Amino acid sequence: PPPPCYGGPSSPALRLEIHATWNKARASTLHLPHHSALTPMFMPVGTQAAIKGLHPDQLLHPTVDAQLVLANTYHLALRPGGDVVRDMGGVHRFMNWPRAILTDSGGFQMVSLLKFSTVTEQGVHFQSPVDGTEMLLTPEKSIHIQNHIGADVIMALDDVVPSTTVGPRVEDACHRTLRWIRRCINAHARPTDQNLFGIVQGGLDHRLRELCCKGLVETDLPGYAIGGLSGGEEKDVFWKVVDQCTDILPPRKPRYCMGVGYPEDLVVCVALGADMFDCVYPARTARFGTALVPSGLLKIRHASMATDCRPVQVGCQCHTCRNYSRSYLHFLAPVDASVGAQLLTLHNIAYLTTLMKRARQAIIDGTFEQFVQNFMLDLYPDKA
Ligand code: GUN
Ligand code: ZN
Repeated sequence: PPPPCYGGPSSPALRLEIHATWNKARASTLHLPHHSALTPMFMPVGTQAAIKGLHPDQLLHPTVDAQLVLANTYHLALRPGGDVVRDMGGVHRFMNWPRAILTDSGGFQMVSLLKFSTVTEQGVHFQSPVDGTEMLLTPEKSIHIQNHIGADVIMALDDVVPSTTVGPRVEDACHRTLRWIRRCINAHARPTDQNLFGIVQGGLDHRLRELCCKGLVETDLPGYAIGGLSGGEEKDVFWKVVDQCTDILPPRKPRYCMGVGYPEDLVVCVALGADMFDCVYPARTARFGTALVPSGLLKIRHASMATDCRPVQVGCQCHTCRNYSRSYLHFLAPVDASVGAQLLTLHNIAYLTTLMKRARQAIIDGTFEQFVQNFMLDLYPDKA
């Protein structure tokens, strides 16, 4: 029989096996109920239990090799409903994804997608976009729905404020997030096969981030996320928050930087000790005709692409780069936007999963410093 995957008595559904480190950076295997995920990892976002335009087979292909995909509690709760997903055998069977799945708690999506949501001590109040009725997402309800959906990792309901907010609202959100974590833990009915992660809030305030980190660590959860980032704050400020949080969060537990998806931020945050990342950015930017490449961004709609016979990224092994030219993708953009966007989305996701795979190998090989240096030199050749 396979060795049991215990992360300790407080996290029976997870084990983090750290293979190598370089300063704060780590290369690990995160053993989860449905998959042993290689980290650091980029996790594609499948809002409606599907990655826009991509099939599970494409994400499983060795050139993409996604370890874990995200689904959203908020979207699945509205349609088809957590109970339907449960009755269909759980989210893995429902979306035909054999590896690990993580669901976000829904609060962030509501606050970012809905103008008319308000937060009280009870939870997040909002109007259903389906039928306009008043609805309330409480910590208990979010966890209950996530228990029905059945992902490997579920997220606590947090009080999210935009990262550039200042003043008492940031402090309130931090304290409320800490009060809500207790309610989430009490509501969690599947601790033996689903891992509840807490989310650090506290804006850009050093004292509040420390308070939130310490308060969450006391609850002894299987993993922790750093939230409230990537909302338009300066990069050095954002990186300092991550650096501070990874200094406080337990070294033997997984760390997840939420909503972080720019290649440069991924590399920096890996160096700062983060293991998991997600973002809609690679898919969203693909729909605007932008491809991620080592030198930065390639604009497929630029006139110069019309007769460029090279692949999006020379040397990339992804399906798009092995089969199509920049010229063809340039031509597709106005003719068949959806096929063009799918092909670029596939490349962009492969770019980020491959970047993380290379970072992992470099940590294992003891060449992470060179890896970071080469990555930065490709991106900023003028600064050499
Ligand atoms: N996605 C990106 N940032 C956040 C955050 O702060 N909280 C939650 N729940 N999801 C996020
Ligand atoms: Zn490619």
